[in-house]
Amino acid sequence: METLLELKDLSAGYGGKAIVHSVSFALQKGSITTLVGGNGAGKSTLMRAIYGSCDHLGGSVVFKGQAIEKADPFDRHRMGIGFVPQGRCNFAEMTVSENLKMGCYTLPAREHAKRIERMLEAFPVLKRKFRLKAGNMSGGEQQILETAMVLLAEPSMLLLDEPSLGLSPKTQGEVFDMVREISARGVTVLIVEQNVHGALLISDTAIVLEMGRKFLEGPAADVRNDPNIRHAYLGGNITKDISE
Ligand SMILES: Nc1ncnc2c1ncn2[C@@H]1O[C@H](COP(=O)(O)OP(=O)(O)OP(=O)(O)O)[C@@H](O)[C@H]1O
Ligand SMILES: [Mg+2]
Repeated sequence: METLLELKDLSAGYGGKAIVHSVSFALQKGSITTLVGGNGAGKSTLMRAIYGSCDHLGGSVVFKGQAIEKADPFDRHRMGIGFVPQGRCNFAEMTVSENLKMGCYTLPAREHAKRIERMLEAFPVLKRKFRLKAGNMSGGEQQILETAMVLLAEPSMLLLDEPSLGLSPKTQGEVFDMVREISARGVTVLIVEQNVHGALLISDTAIVLEMGRKFLEGPAADVRNDPNIRHAYLGGNITKDISE
């Protein structure tokens, strides 16, 4: 196993106030990890801290063996960290084609057509809707587009904040399939999901955050079967997998 990302006593927040407190964990190359926690636990803030888009207040972020906590988001993006933030983040009035071109903004011009072509192969729905306005697509299709816009840069690590929020159970399943596919291509994934059960089913590891602190970390299957976790985050005794 090879570590791709390591957080060491990382504290982060806004306006000098810490929301994430002294969190440490390591992500193995090629793994999928779910970050679990209630509303306001600091999941999005932790993702921003990894990407560099909130205040760094202590500790270290080590990516590919290099301390990056002082690097800005643009540099982290270039180093291979891709971030798809929570909520809709495409250009709704622009077409799928134009959105994908926007996603190429950090890449040399000679790469654009080739990279877009690869995304259309990986996600045929984007090919079918290529000339359609992004805002007119379904929520699931827009999530796929937003993820593809980030994948254009071929990141080695992908941060996905609530990719299935607001989607039907069937579409949530499609988003999870997409995550599995991305992982199969060797990308390391950290995911925050309101569908905790579905996310844990595709994950190797789970990390539970409570009030900005790491509460628990372990194999996803163990966390999924932990009675306390089931009670707090999985609605008690779920016997049916809603992602199927
Ligand atoms: N831009 C910001 N400026 C100041 N405080 C913020 C900002 N964003 C979030 N916070 C605060 O940080 C805390 C954690 O928020 P965060 O969005 O990280 O939680 P979360 O676990 O992602 O919650 P949710 O499940 O609702 O998405 C909250 O108290 C929130 O009010
Ligand atoms: Mg959040």
